[in-house]
Amino acid sequence: MVKPMNQDELKALVAQEAVKEVLNMVKSHPKNIPFVIGIGTGSTANLFIDALAPHRELFAGAVSSSEASAARLEKHGFVLMQANDIEFLPVYVDGADEIDPQGNMLKGGGGALTREKIIAQLAKTFICICDDTKAVKTLGAFPLPVEVIPLAYQQVSRELTALGARITLRVQKGDTQKTFMTDNAAWIIDVHGLRIDKPAELESWINQIPGVICNGIFARRKADILLMSNSLGVTHQEFKD
Ligand code: A5P
Repeated sequence: MVKPMNQDELKALVAQEAVKEVLNMVKSHPKNIPFVIGIGTGSTANLFIDALAPHRELFAGAVSSSEASAARLEKHGFVLMQANDIEFLPVYVDGADEIDPQGNMLKGGGGALTREKIIAQLAKTFICICDDTKAVKTLGAFPLPVEVIPLAYQQVSRELTALGARITLRVQKGDTQKTFMTDNAAWIIDVHGLRIDKPAELESWINQIPGVICNGIFARRKADILLMSNSLGVTHQEFKD
């Protein structure tokens, strides 16, 4: 009989599988080109960092999508690099809040969406790691994060409300009187009640609102590989365009 795992165990399981996947990539990587890895943000990405740490010597450096992940990587002894130093990454590994059957994702629950998108764009392969609670048919049940320049908050809010959605300004965990501030000194509007049938179109539409820095739909740069855990193990899926 299969013993059901809790979500933390499922996250740890997929993190370990992602390490195996990345180590295989390192093996087939040309020896004369340094292997720099891109790493995301969140509880699953944290477990991936911890599981990868014993192998840090194999990597010339790591670029991360948040100050929190950078601190964790540094603590483990990885060489930190910045997106500006990199032209290409063989792989970017990150979690997701939702992923649909085509590999489109909704991300940014941890507030790191903009840097996640920047680093994902540098990567040849995006490996999404998550447990099966993140699988959805259609994106949107999880509130869509939209990072905004603070002075444009009201203006952007009106545009998003016109979509028929409900919006909330993200506050700090543990102090609801304080507005959550991203690593880019910006705010996050969470958009509730969307049914995202055309993710790439909505991603572009929201991005053209003046004052929007980025939104949490990852459809223009979606996942290439999905590693998804359930109590039976980890499934491996590849997405083609
Ligand atoms: C961070 O901003 C997010 O995009 C995360 O990748 C996403 O929220 C998944 O986080 P967990 O791994 O903590 O569920």
